[in-house]
Amino acid sequence: MAADVLLEIEDLRTHFLLDDGVVPAVDGVDLRVHRGETLAIVGESGCGKSVMARSILRLVDPPGQIMGGRITLHRDDGPVELVGADPRLLRRIRWQDIAMVFQEPMASLSLVHTIGSQIVEAVRLHENVGKAVARRRAIDMLDRVGIPMPQRRVDSYPFELSGGMRQRAMIAMALSCRPALLIADEPTTALDVTTQAQILELLADLQDEFGMAIMMITHDLGVAAQVADRMAVMYLGRVVEYGPAEQVLGAPRHPYTRALLRSMPRLGRASRTRLTAISGMVPPPYARPDGCTFHPRCDSVLAGRCETVTPHRLPLGDREVACLLYEQEENS
Ligand SMILES: Nc1ncnc2c1ncn2[C@@H]1O[C@H](COP(=O)(O)OP(=O)(O)OP(=O)(O)O)[C@@H](O)[C@H]1O
Ligand SMILES: [Mg+2]
Repeated sequence: MAADVLLEIEDLRTHFLLDDGVVPAVDGVDLRVHRGETLAIVGESGCGKSVMARSILRLVDPPGQIMGGRITLHRDDGPVELVGADPRLLRRIRWQDIAMVFQEPMASLSLVHTIGSQIVEAVRLHENVGKAVARRRAIDMLDRVGIPMPQRRVDSYPFELSGGMRQRAMIAMALSCRPALLIADEPTTALDVTTQAQILELLADLQDEFGMAIMMITHDLGVAAQVADRMAVMYLGRVVEYGPAEQVLGAPRHPYTRALLRSMPRLGRASRTRLTAISGMVPPPYARPDGCTFHPRCDSVLAGRCETVTPHRLPLGDREVACLLYEQEENS
């Protein structure tokens, strides 16, 4: 395995065990995040992006359950296996190695504590520093993320800030322990276009400064095109295409990626279109089609094969694609 891999996910399966049946939200995800890079995760609503991301730090609540797979974090002092890890180890890894930012900051910020006290607590959980030092770090981080008058805002409660400022505060908190990986789940979807652009620029600056990797989950192929080094395209709980962003966007191989790109004619401009314009619907979660799960919507379907044979992900140059079109190419 390449030395610069920071996080490796292999055959991750996270299912929701409901009374009416099992929802295989994440059903065999394979992914790698390299040090310092931005990996964009794209795909239609419900394809398992958030459940995959939350599985990494085991933030999926019951009835969700990790059924199998491996998630390996390659720290400087050696690899750590996260599936099955002791909760105390996961708490140490959270913030310090891997931090998360969600679409709705109110869901991750405490309403009854000031922004500053939450950052101070996160810093002191991981570093042996006094309150005054941690408070100075909090003010410095609020300043870095572009919050005006940070000496005053550090004592604000989340509800006293605007949506854009709360998102910045959330990023300040996430970065206060200098994580090696930031997982950002739709961090700008709820913001206006101008604030969205500012936040993406800010993340890029902080990434350069701290050398961290970013896993950027987004509906918006325009955002992915702007920020990503690599891309993973998810459909129904699996990654169907993975590779360098310019290749995936410039010459998509999987029929699903092609359909996604066709549904976004204004790629390159800031667009807020949700990825729902592909023919047919995402099948209901309990009823996953047999064979390739995309076959009922696919315009390149191979009759008699795609309905029954599950495609494996195959290397195609720098890329990996799970589609029988290419298995045939390889076998012929
Ligand atoms: N608490 C839950 N109980 C049951 N099913 C769930 C639960 N949370 C998620 N799911 C199911 O898991 C699947 C994946 O959901 P997930 O939230 O990961 O999608 P997503 O790709 O993040 O979508 P979006 O782009 O809308 O955020 C969906 O079918 C969803 O219905
Ligand atoms: Mg989501």
